[in-house]
Amino acid sequence: MIIAPSILACDFLNIESELRRFDGLDNIWLHLDIMDGHFVPNLTFGHAIVELIAKKTHLPLDAHFMVTNPEFYIDTFKSFKIHNFTFHYEVYETNLLELKRLIKKAKDFYPSVGLSIKPNTDVTVLTDDILTMLDLVLVMSVEPGFGGQKFMPNCLDKIKFLNSKKLTLFPNLQIQVDGGINEVTAKEVIAAGATNLVAGSAIFKYPSSQTSVGIKKLLSHS
Ligand code: DX5
Ligand code: ZN
Repeated sequence: MIIAPSILACDFLNIESELRRFDGLDNIWLHLDIMDGHFVPNLTFGHAIVELIAKKTHLPLDAHFMVTNPEFYIDTFKSFKIHNFTFHYEVYETNLLELKRLIKKAKDFYPSVGLSIKPNTDVTVLTDDILTMLDLVLVMSVEPGFGGQKFMPNCLDKIKFLNSKKLTLFPNLQIQVDGGINEVTAKEVIAAGATNLVAGSAIFKYPSSQTSVGIKKLLSHS
């Protein structure tokens, strides 16, 4: 199980010390929510901040692009040591050829490539010919745009669907869930087959010294 703390919930004026929370912990990715104010109403951070973060951490960087133009980011994040590059299916839902071209292009530059689906997107749009190109599927369990929202249980059937695909056809597929993950919902998504949990408020609500306790609690009921 991988836990991906979302720095959207961190103390932004002290990012460097916030990153040190995870020193010595295993199976942690650092989740970076990049929002452009167009694909989602909110705006977060971009190149300059990610470049600085990349220099200050050895954690695998997990970049979640909530943007209307992922290709620009594929081109311009190449040197920031991003481990996983996730963008949204919905950007290209009317142009699957373009979707596949960009997955392929991202694979040329990033070790892992993911596609995300919003709460109202049916998981079956991710047909086998798309899944076979992916390292990760990110199932949104809130409407993307803001941290601290309530978990939407309609993600559970999507996770089960992806888990059945993982068990039969795509054993290396990571099933990531993002939004409203806490001690209760973590248990539900793990039971459904999630392998990778993004969590913002549920982790950063703890004081630094209690970070590993918080992460253990997140997993304790599963
Ligand atoms: C929402 C983001 C999430 C968010 C999760 O658009 O993609 O990563 O930070 O925050 P919590 O865990 O607080 O719901
Ligand atoms: Zn996210």
